[in-house]
Amino acid sequence: MTQVLCVAGARPNFMKIAPVMAALAEAGIAAQLLHTGQHYDAAMSDSFFADLGIPRPDHHLEVGSGSHAVQTAEVMKRFEPVLEAVQPQAVLVVGDVNSTLACALVAAKRGVRVIHVEAGLRSYDRGMPEEINRVLTDQISDLLFTTEKSALANLVREGIDPARVAFVGNVMIDTLYRHLDRAVPASGTLGAALPAYAVLTLHRPSNVDHPDTLGALLDVVGEINRRLPVVLPLHPRTRANIEKFGLTAKLDGLRLLPPVGYLEMLGLMREAKLVLTDSGGIQEETTALGVPCLTLRENTERPITLTEGTNTLVGANPAAIRAAFEDVMTSGGKAGRIPENWDGRAATRIAHALHAWLPGQKGRRTA
Ligand code: UD1
Repeated sequence: MTQVLCVAGARPNFMKIAPVMAALAEAGIAAQLLHTGQHYDAAMSDSFFADLGIPRPDHHLEVGSGSHAVQTAEVMKRFEPVLEAVQPQAVLVVGDVNSTLACALVAAKRGVRVIHVEAGLRSYDRGMPEEINRVLTDQISDLLFTTEKSALANLVREGIDPARVAFVGNVMIDTLYRHLDRAVPASGTLGAALPAYAVLTLHRPSNVDHPDTLGALLDVVGEINRRLPVVLPLHPRTRANIEKFGLTAKLDGLRLLPPVGYLEMLGLMREAKLVLTDSGGIQEETTALGVPCLTLRENTERPITLTEGTNTLVGANPAAIRAAFEDVMTSGGKAGRIPENWDGRAATRIAHALHAWLPGQKGRRTA
């Protein structure tokens, strides 16, 4: 009998599901893995399974890309018969991508309990598709695991019973610690050693879907690149938009890479003088690595990276980006410290909590 059906769909899910699957196996909890296929390129998906030792998915929905509505609906349609066949005691979802919400919604409507890993993060920006996914997934989850304490206040504000929330720490940081000594040296990924460099990642619709915003960002990046070489692993949607908007010339001089694997990215970040990003996860990974991070967004759902970590919000404003860059060049940027429970044991805490919570286990929840 499968107790927990675990779901992963897109690149940022894979590093979160890896330690959860391992910890469930270690705790003797019977789990299966389902891949929705939201990300399907080898570089966006398969390489993570190989690098992180994630078991081959028991189920693959192969949904692929589409508008948010199409993608979410396709996952829902294809997930329902699998859920019906597997009959798990609970569905476990991670993060905030479309696959997270789609599978949580199907499970909740079929009366299957939902576990959300990385619950309660809020940017309070409903313009972000992920924010909608977070709010709705949390509302229909039965058990909510948080990465930082601020998440509990967000959940309570939305009427969620604190008894259903557990602060376990950050499973993505479990993965980071587990694989740090296997990180690929930057010189290997870049083909040559660079004495100092910045890494840039850019894929959020708010930054890359409008020619003016994307063009202005690439201009500042070009300025930075003249002082500190910028390495840019290009997300497929960003590459497509740069071409569509006729901005390819603005990439001149940057160290362009295709999407890189987990171990390559870890090595690139660890050795970087600075990371510039609009990713959620990278804000946390740079905090764990102690590398200064300038986040190209107006807000963050991960405030602990600002208050305790190495992260600074700079938005898409060229003046703010320049000023923060100068600060890193002169003072080295924020030093930061490692947040509570980001200790490599978050997934183990989750497995322990599930052991007590799942039906038929000792200490079973009666609600
Ligand atoms: C998704 C997540 C985002 C996460 C990001 C990491 C949602 C709402 N967004 O955004 O939170 O930070 O993943 O990458 O779920 N594409 C490929 N190959 C792939 C996957 C996508 O070429 O394997 C291209 C397609 O043109 C696709 C586009 O990238 O239309 C966007 O992919 P999609 O999964 O819709 O969203 P992401 O921008 O990747």
